[in-house]
Amino acid sequence: MSLIVQNLDKDFPTRNGPLTVLRGVNLTLNRGDALAVMGPSGSGKSTLLHIVGTLDQPSRGTVSLEGSNPFTLPEPQLAEFRNRRIGFVFQDHHLLPQCTVLENVILPTLVNSESKKEDVEKYARELLERVGLSQRITHYPAELSGGERQRVAVARALIQKPVLLLADEPTGNLDRKNAESIGQLLIDLHKQENNILVVVTHSADLAKMLPRTMEVRDGQLV
Ligand SMILES: Nc1ncnc2c1ncn2[C@@H]1O[C@H](COP(=O)(O)OP(=O)(O)OP(=O)(O)O)[C@@H](O)[C@H]1O
Ligand SMILES: [Mg+2]
Repeated sequence: MSLIVQNLDKDFPTRNGPLTVLRGVNLTLNRGDALAVMGPSGSGKSTLLHIVGTLDQPSRGTVSLEGSNPFTLPEPQLAEFRNRRIGFVFQDHHLLPQCTVLENVILPTLVNSESKKEDVEKYARELLERVGLSQRITHYPAELSGGERQRVAVARALIQKPVLLLADEPTGNLDRKNAESIGQLLIDLHKQENNILVVVTHSADLAKMLPRTMEVRDGQLV
């Protein structure tokens, strides 16, 4: 149960020729590991997270999750792999405004037919209780505070019991108190679920809460 990144390069084609953002990135994380990724704006943190999350392809090198390279899968299977194995939390919550809190958390499960509706709903309610929102499940995102919305996003990221939990600036839009509490929540749930957690952040406070920090510098992870 591990994430292994080997000799990863990423170039983006631009009008002035290819822009190399990542070069020779290596990383191994095992179940239960948690990592903070820091680095200046534009250094390639989100790019790295997107590739590890299979949202973007590497230019060269390999990514393996649980022993297989997801990029060898055709797109429909890759989408299913991503949906089931990887949970995302972004800076913006990306909740659907027309769906309730409970519906938003259940959303990722709607594409896989075999999970029973009652089981999914039970687990969604449990997750919402764990993030402290059991009293708000019928509310709409517009009725919640920024910190509460981000809690819903965390619950939604965990509904499929992902092996890999990825967060890109999860506390970037929050005040200090909410930022600390979302950070703690991510860490607590990561420990309870024993998944792999990678958090991209500009916040030294958040990085300090994680056991290990690396930095993207000159395209490399150091
Ligand atoms: N699709 C793209 N096409 C061309 N260049 C891109 C593309 N996506 C990202 N880049 C470039 O890659 C570099 C890294 O971007 P990235 O978003 O990974 O930075 P970041 O470290 O997450 O920055 P921030 O801290 O500001 O979020 C930037 O110079 C950016 O302009
Ligand atoms: Mg970024």
